[in-house]
Amino acid sequence: MKDTLVIEGGHRLQGQVTISGAKNAGLVLMAASIMADGETILDNVPVINDVEVMVCILNDIGVKTEWREDGSLSICPPQGGVQNHTSYELAKLLRASNLFLGAMLGRQGEATISLPGGCDIGTRPMDLHIKGLQALGAELELEHGYIYGRVKKANGARVYLDFPSVGATENIMMMAAKTPGQSIIENAAKEPEIVDLANFLNFMGAKVRGAGTDIIRIEGVEELKPGRYAIIPDRIEAGTYMIAAAISRGEILVQNVIPTHLHPVIAKLQEAGATVRETDQGILVRAGKQILPIDIKTLPYPGFPTDMQSQMMALLALADGSSMIVENVFENRFQIVDELKRMGARIKVEGHTAVIEGVDSLLGARVKATDLRAGAALILGGLAAEGETTIDNAGYIFRGYENVREKLNALGAKLS
Ligand code: EPZ
Repeated sequence: MKDTLVIEGGHRLQGQVTISGAKNAGLVLMAASIMADGETILDNVPVINDVEVMVCILNDIGVKTEWREDGSLSICPPQGGVQNHTSYELAKLLRASNLFLGAMLGRQGEATISLPGGCDIGTRPMDLHIKGLQALGAELELEHGYIYGRVKKANGARVYLDFPSVGATENIMMMAAKTPGQSIIENAAKEPEIVDLANFLNFMGAKVRGAGTDIIRIEGVEELKPGRYAIIPDRIEAGTYMIAAAISRGEILVQNVIPTHLHPVIAKLQEAGATVRETDQGILVRAGKQILPIDIKTLPYPGFPTDMQSQMMALLALADGSSMIVENVFENRFQIVDELKRMGARIKVEGHTAVIEGVDSLLGARVKATDLRAGAALILGGLAAEGETTIDNAGYIFRGYENVREKLNALGAKLS
């Protein structure tokens, strides 16, 4: 797939779009699948680059995988356990490779994980992962870019997370699922993807209670069984298409969504002047007569999602007035600003705060994606811009958006 996207701006988007399965649920469930002997089948897994990389890592550690006729993904770890070593070449391609740590420690008591890669939106340490897994009895050492983990004596424990880290919550849940005794995660992440992981683990025979709240209790079990499970829809992909309707002065019915997962995005889009209605067929978004300036603070779920921050910034670049965005989750997530300014946006950044002076129009330009969601935001800017926008490094976008060209062109956009 070529690494450049070209967008001819100025087309109103209209019609309906079907949302794919959630990247950040699919990735963690692919890691969790190695914890059961036998074939697990996951439905609704999006065919995106990050999933393809996770498939390569699974194969690399000895797990058989197969995309079946019906689009589901079959995952079959070898009897007796997987190789406990993820390779640097693959692990550096995405953050989610670090989720094999908790899954391997839970399944076979040892793991050698290359430190992960992923979008360059901050330092992305793993101190909370390590704190939690050590509390459960894992001995972890960090050497030469790898984490070496061995479980001497696994025991349930109480873990307080200084920050409700999604990945740390997931790694601890997976190890605790097979750690004897009761474990409690306090200040746990509450994202829908955490709930999906808990539902999947319980479906496999685990005893996880309280996912979606800030206290998760887990009773360790001896064995987890494989099965067939459908992952939740992608709330961030959905939110991105909702903003596409607003920014292109169009109207889109976003189908296959769980509205409660989108309440923060719905609320802020309505404040920005769009009409948003929950219907039986999905969420209908109609652009407002104008884009109203608003203030946004990103927070862990159920706050406004950091993964929607760049996309909202693109919309507010065209608002009738001045908006403010405060990014509270990642320390380096304003890289989109320089690219939007190349398109004529007026944005000033001071630390974690960006002030956006709305302009009447954006102009098409050559820009580059700096991370997955910044890339998505540049598509949104390009949809509204006058003239043509060329996005380099578009590979970032294909990491997390299934069939993005086809879905947008079917709505009346002109992407090539
Ligand atoms: C997950 O990343 C998502 N990725 C991210 O989505 C998402 O932005 C993020 O959660 C927050 O919602 C996947 O699920 C694969 P965190 P993760 O641990 O788990 C700090 C996308 O675009 N922190 O919740 O890495 C960290 O530095 C991607 O789909 C520690 O300090 O996020 C950050 O500032 C981007 N120590 C904050 O917590 C730790 O041990 C949130 O990180 C772990 C995290």
